[in-house]
Amino acid sequence: MTKKAFLQEVERDKDLTTLVSTQNWVGENKILIESQLEEYGAILFSGLPIESAEDFDLFVSAFQYDTFTYEESLSNAVRINKTDKVFTANEAPKEIEIFLHHEMAQTPIYPKYLFFFCKSASLYGGETPLCRSDYLFEELLKADPDLIARFEKNGVIYNSIMSSGDELVSGQGRSWQKTLGVKSKTEAEIRLSDLGYSWNWIEGDSLSVTTKPFAAIKELKDGNKSFFNQVLAASLGWKKNSENDLSPVKFGNGEEIPKSSIQIISELAQSLTLLREWEDNDIVLIDNYRVMHGRKPYSGKKNREVLVSLTT
Ligand SMILES: [Fe+2]
Repeated sequence: MTKKAFLQEVERDKDLTTLVSTQNWVGENKILIESQLEEYGAILFSGLPIESAEDFDLFVSAFQYDTFTYEESLSNAVRINKTDKVFTANEAPKEIEIFLHHEMAQTPIYPKYLFFFCKSASLYGGETPLCRSDYLFEELLKADPDLIARFEKNGVIYNSIMSSGDELVSGQGRSWQKTLGVKSKTEAEIRLSDLGYSWNWIEGDSLSVTTKPFAAIKELKDGNKSFFNQVLAASLGWKKNSENDLSPVKFGNGEEIPKSSIQIISELAQSLTLLREWEDNDIVLIDNYRVMHGRKPYSGKKNREVLVSLTT
């Protein structure tokens, strides 16, 4: 596979100075944008007259994709809705790093398109790392074919702790009530059993949840494969279950993923990662099937505000 740089900006034949002309331009160029996205995995739109969550909502709406609502999703991140389809990317504190992942790959349903809008860039850090998982798959296959065979054969299972009530100290602090869309423990158990997950209640009414096995590799439309999962984010960033010492991610047959394997995956991913430094008003469209993203810690007085909209 020839490696393509990503974040190509789609060429514009006219100046887009109003929201309406931008929406029309998206409508007229949707096929071109989609084909470039297939090729590059992520696309930058800069200099558009998009300034608020409402403008961003209208920009995303111009693509006419189906909205993937945060409320109904099994996302484990705490986010705040700004409009029906736009919410904050993650309310985790600024010193927390969110490691590379495919959005909601640890759940049965996940979005295809991720739209990020930088309303306000941070002063220092806060970049969004982007890594092509089709390239990562290829490199892993060369480096450790047995590891890839184990992922292909078994898939992966995830163990996570859901607190009772949102917890803002981590990147995965969404409560079990909100994550599962339930009010009581009984309803939670019904939902989990419908999902085919196993669980146990732990201290402080928190919930330790283990998913059923999910595929760790995804076949893409062009026939290439993508290392589509949350292996890096879960093993490097998620809280470990201190009561029973369960790893946040394992092979689907219950075997541990060796630390040395995580190391290999992490190093190869690093070598393929591009750090996107944000500028105010940038929009980045990411193909979630092909490209992983994360968030670097940030600092400085200026508040970083990156909004997101997910569609299928
Ligand atoms: Fe994410």
